[in-house]
Amino acid sequence: MDPLTALGAALAAAHFGAPLAYYAAAKRWLKMPWRIRPDPAHTPTVTVAIPTYNEAGHIEEKLEDIYRQDYPRDRLEVIVVDSASRDGTAEKARRWAEAHPDVDVKVVEEPERRGKAAALNAALAMARGEVFVITDADCRWPQRDALRRAVSWLADPAVGAVTCLKRPAADGPAGVEAGYRDRYNVLRLAESKKWATPVFHGELAAYRTELLRKIGGFPLDIGADDSHTATLIALTGYRAVAAEGLWCVEAVPHNGYHRWRIRRAQHLIQHFLRAPLRRAPPPMRPILLAEKYLHLANPWLLPAAAVALAATATPPALALLAAGAAALALKPYRTWAAAQLYLMVAAVKNLRNRELVWEKQEK
Ligand code: GDD
Ligand code: MN
Repeated sequence: MDPLTALGAALAAAHFGAPLAYYAAAKRWLKMPWRIRPDPAHTPTVTVAIPTYNEAGHIEEKLEDIYRQDYPRDRLEVIVVDSASRDGTAEKARRWAEAHPDVDVKVVEEPERRGKAAALNAALAMARGEVFVITDADCRWPQRDALRRAVSWLADPAVGAVTCLKRPAADGPAGVEAGYRDRYNVLRLAESKKWATPVFHGELAAYRTELLRKIGGFPLDIGADDSHTATLIALTGYRAVAAEGLWCVEAVPHNGYHRWRIRRAQHLIQHFLRAPLRRAPPPMRPILLAEKYLHLANPWLLPAAAVALAATATPPALALLAAGAAALALKPYRTWAAAQLYLMVAAVKNLRNRELVWEKQEK
């Protein structure tokens, strides 16, 4: 085999081998005990923060969703922080609050839009809850005890932050979304069992309020505010976990699905670039190292392999290329390839526009 064909084959093997090896490790971690004792009777005071920008179509249903929770209402505070929406989101939230005096709902109206993290910090500054929960306006908590479940994990003093597992409300183009989520949830659970997952979900994330304040609140220069805060908390020695049996349903945009995926990839890249590996507690180190590598470096091996193989154009190289192309007929492979493409486009886009204040996609 000529050296360039060998190089192309090696790059391809590394590109597919590394994530498969990590997935195999994750499957082993999944068998580990949690070493955490959730307590469903644990009901500290909770602040739920909902950042909104043009969510008139969702905000009432979101408030109803929280209202349906079986969490003691006298221990619950809800803060809607609206960033100058132009569709009447704040008025709708205010009217809902007036109609439901039995739950403490505050509506904060920012004079201008400064992004989601700034809005969350405004809520954090006034929050009275011992636990600070964030949720998006356009997602649903299908479980009536979602809040109780999330908070129950914080009964264990080793846990600093908790997030949900995610299910898409609708399947994205070519069924990519659900397939991607299944494997993703396995990784989140496995990492959580080992120590902590560096990927959190803004649809439902619960933090010890004092820890959030200690790390300085939500970062204004990293789009994945949910993941970055949780990771910083994990780096101070606490577990940051995706809770088994805690589900959230997220809306998938009808239009602009690819743009949506790319923007979220941009935010994750910003997070992984900045997450400091050297501060990770030992069990967190392989997790953070692997996720950094998988998000930042590994995607690029795929085009590099393709270029090397195409450049030599030897029969074995072309056979490999053809096999790679043919495999696109398989859904898991297509899902994988799409995610790699999103990450690469996102890395390039980050050089010009970090999308810290982003366009709202219709859902
Ligand atoms: N107050 C305020 N100000 N809220 C905002 C702003 C803003 O400038 N921008 C977005 N939001 C709110 C939205 O109204 C929504 O409630 C939530 O933040 C998430 O925004 P979406 O536009 O729905 O984004 P998504 O569906 O892609 O959200 C996912 O990715 C984000 C990072 O890319 C979730 O995981 C988010 O939690 C995450 O921040
Ligand atoms: Mn959303």
